[in-house]
Amino acid sequence: MAEETLVVRRIGAAAGAEITGIDLSHDLTNDQFAVIHQALLDHLVLCFPDQTLSADDQIAFARRWGDLAIHPNLAGMKDHPEIIAVERRPGDTGHLGSEWHNDTTSLEKPPMGTMMYSKIVPPVGGDTVFANQYAAYDALSSGMKDMLDGMRAVHGDSRVAGPRAGLNKRRTNKTDESDDWRETVNMHPVVRTHPETGKKALYVNVAYTLRLENMTTEESQPLLDFLYEHSHRPEFTYRHRWSEKMLVLWDNRALVHLALNDCPTSHRLMERIQIRGDRPF
Ligand code: SIN
Repeated sequence: MAEETLVVRRIGAAAGAEITGIDLSHDLTNDQFAVIHQALLDHLVLCFPDQTLSADDQIAFARRWGDLAIHPNLAGMKDHPEIIAVERRPGDTGHLGSEWHNDTTSLEKPPMGTMMYSKIVPPVGGDTVFANQYAAYDALSSGMKDMLDGMRAVHGDSRVAGPRAGLNKRRTNKTDESDDWRETVNMHPVVRTHPETGKKALYVNVAYTLRLENMTTEESQPLLDFLYEHSHRPEFTYRHRWSEKMLVLWDNRALVHLALNDCPTSHRLMERIQIRGDRPF
């Protein structure tokens, strides 16, 4: 049988490419991986439709990118602790990832990428929206860029976990809200340099950024609010519509994203793996 040709097709103006002609349940050659790796750096969101993947297949593909992260606040699947079932059931009024964020920036070394595989997709709704943070940074004035240069922000997970988060009563996905939970807090640059492309990306987000370094929350908030609003201007976004058996991989170092909260009567089930990253600089 003739080998299929791997095709990378751009599907969004700000981010997003579809990759066809590849079966991710098989080992990739180094040449195939090099093309996919470059596509991630170029397009930030890669979508692989029509993939039939076991948990082990997903883990094997994720491991091509690096070590896998174990989530600090969400329990993994019983036999596969690296995989989190991201699930929304009819009647849930909230769900995981419904605020703009880069994943788990409370960590000293937040994940470089996240892979999500769709098992059950609502007939309408349940899209994921991504915003390109290179574009967000580039669109700032030179005065704002100069001001942000060298600035750092404190990130923590108290809005997404812990006894005060209060998320579990509204959603199927349970975060650690136990009394002995302890907040993870780390400082990151407000503008980070992507370790592979060398490009600058805005790096603050609604879910995890708490305040700016050496400032109170109140002092920080006006500037952070401006940056949050700016970070997801429509022209920086790519809205992803899922179909079943689709694998999507995204680059957390240069994107914020959110899961739309618009399918309250539907069941949505994804399997998600995070790939370890390095310390932002
Ligand atoms: C996430 O924020 O990692 C989940 C996104 C989604 O469910 O679409």
